[in-house]
Amino acid sequence: MDFVSDMKAKAKSMRKKLVLPEGTEPRTVKAARILVDEQLAVSVTLLGKVTEIQKVADAEGVNLNGINIVHPHGDASLNKYAHEYYELRKHKGMTEDQAKIDIADPLRWGSMMVHLGDADAMVAGAENTTGDVLRAGLAIIGTVPGLKTASSCFVMAGMDPQWGLDGAMIFSDCAVIPDPTAEQLADIAESAAQSCREFLGAEPVVALMSFSTKGSAKHDNVTKVQTAVQILKGKNPGFVFDGEIQADAALVPSVTDKKAPGSPVRGKVNTLIFPDLGAGNIGYKLVQRLGKVEAFGPFLQGFAKPISDLSRGASVEDIVTTAAVTLSRVK
Ligand code: ACO
Repeated sequence: MDFVSDMKAKAKSMRKKLVLPEGTEPRTVKAARILVDEQLAVSVTLLGKVTEIQKVADAEGVNLNGINIVHPHGDASLNKYAHEYYELRKHKGMTEDQAKIDIADPLRWGSMMVHLGDADAMVAGAENTTGDVLRAGLAIIGTVPGLKTASSCFVMAGMDPQWGLDGAMIFSDCAVIPDPTAEQLADIAESAAQSCREFLGAEPVVALMSFSTKGSAKHDNVTKVQTAVQILKGKNPGFVFDGEIQADAALVPSVTDKKAPGSPVRGKVNTLIFPDLGAGNIGYKLVQRLGKVEAFGPFLQGFAKPISDLSRGASVEDIVTTAAVTLSRVK
């Protein structure tokens, strides 16, 4: 599996519209050029003042031909977008006047473009924090029907082929929710299962991990995972899962037989759910560094429409790859 090539090929075939809100950010401007040249999107929109974006493009030697530029403050959609934002946020005390000011913020404007179908996907975070990107997406795009939680996953690739799908697995949540509730953990498992289908092209087999297997330890953190498993059972989500289960019992069939005999995930796990962000974030980095494994992500999941957050240290190529992956998820 060549994850990046696969996602780029998929994005190219889908011909979707991308918005990059950080239009005056140099790496973003360069990435926009590549995305258009490689035809990974049918249209790419940068948000910001034309003169400022042109200045950045000139400094970087980037030709802006074929790239759309939208300046929210003067745009013909301002009243429409502001009214929709007001409708979405009035239960939180938003006024029409405030909505007109707030919606001009590029992250909110980009989210609104996606919400209203003027763009199919948004990628941001080269100069904004994860929290800012997430909050704009949550306020405007919201979560997929049936789920209340947005979270994230990594695609781990290049592991020993005995693990997951020829050495590729989904790890979740490694970047968003510091201490998920049982309900959130169940949502994370559902979203990760969907990510497994979209990214690995495989039916998900999901392990909800803990430091306990089937009641071997007692602690609030264990109870939380057990409750999440019960919630999932109640929802009958249409994929194979088990928990609470330790990592070795989830992965190694001989250990499964000892600690969780009869587990439906025995020898087949391709999606690992961590009990909290501490475990997830540390876990993926350990596997990445000690196992010399590729970690792609974090990719946001659970949103009603595809958006992605970038690391502020992202390279131009990271932005292009993330955009391709995000576009590949458009329904
Ligand atoms: N899913 C759905 N809705 C959510 C979620 C979520 N995960 N988190 C918050 N919300 C909702 C809240 O209910 C609230 O809704 P409302 O405005 O309708 O009332 C709204 O979003 C905003 O909530 P806040 O209270 O402002 O945000 P909060 O303080 O809960 O922070 C956030 C949420 C921004 C997602 C936070 O959890 C965060 O910053 N996570 C990122 C953690 C991080 O920094 N990770 C970096 C590691 S990345 C790496 O290493 C690769």
